[in-house]
Amino acid sequence: MTVPEAMRDQNLRRFPLRRHVIHGAGGPLSIVAPSSSEDLLRRGDLAERCERKAQPPYWADIWPASVGLARFIMRGPSLVQQRVVDLGCGIGVAGAAAARRGATVIFADREPDALHFARFNARKNGAREHQELRFDWDREYLPAGIDLLLLADVAYHPPSHPGLLRQVQAIIRSGGRVISADPFRKSTNDFINKLEGEHAVEHISGSVHFDAKRWPLRLVSVLARKS
Ligand SMILES: C[S@@+](CC[C@H](N)C(=O)[O-])C[C@H]1O[C@@H](n2cnc3c(N)ncnc32)[C@H](O)[C@@H]1O
Repeated sequence: MTVPEAMRDQNLRRFPLRRHVIHGAGGPLSIVAPSSSEDLLRRGDLAERCERKAQPPYWADIWPASVGLARFIMRGPSLVQQRVVDLGCGIGVAGAAAARRGATVIFADREPDALHFARFNARKNGAREHQELRFDWDREYLPAGIDLLLLADVAYHPPSHPGLLRQVQAIIRSGGRVISADPFRKSTNDFINKLEGEHAVEHISGSVHFDAKRWPLRLVSVLARKS
């Protein structure tokens, strides 16, 4: 039923849609996404917008690291009364999992289309309190009072590292935590090294089964600034 429902949303029905079910503790998450970023690039109007911004529409895919992070969150402790940000949320998989565990979630991304999907997916999966924030990590700071920052496969582009590290530092300084998830990308290694240089971190790595394949998964939990 989810795709027909999404077709009633004027922001979503501009895209070819697919539904994906992510199984985890506490029941499945039902996620609606554009069919794929490659399909979007084949569509004239959307391809033209991407070219203007010189950015592939990465927001439109379901990334294995976000599935791994979502499963990790769903089997973790309750997040009731926690304010969580899913930064570079794309269609909002990790944030939907945090909402499932009771968090108040801010879905933040610079792509408005991503935020439309994140809102739909949050509601569809029973999120009570959530907010969508158009946000550029290179130019702004997140609001105060964040308990947990989720970074699902966002540090793949080294020029983004300084902006992301600034967000991490601000969250840790104010007493929050950060979890980064990625599939051991070479382009993310330097970001992880910098996190380890400045903060006490815990590695919880493994793999994730997604789309009939097993993907490597690096989860790094950032707890506090090194003294
Ligand atoms: C590889 S996708 C990951 C999406 C999602 N976290 C996931 O794992 O499914 C990277 C996301 O970062 C967003 N992004 C890229 N640069 C950004 C910036 N400067 N500020 C905010 N979001 C950004 C993109 O729009 C995209 O949604």
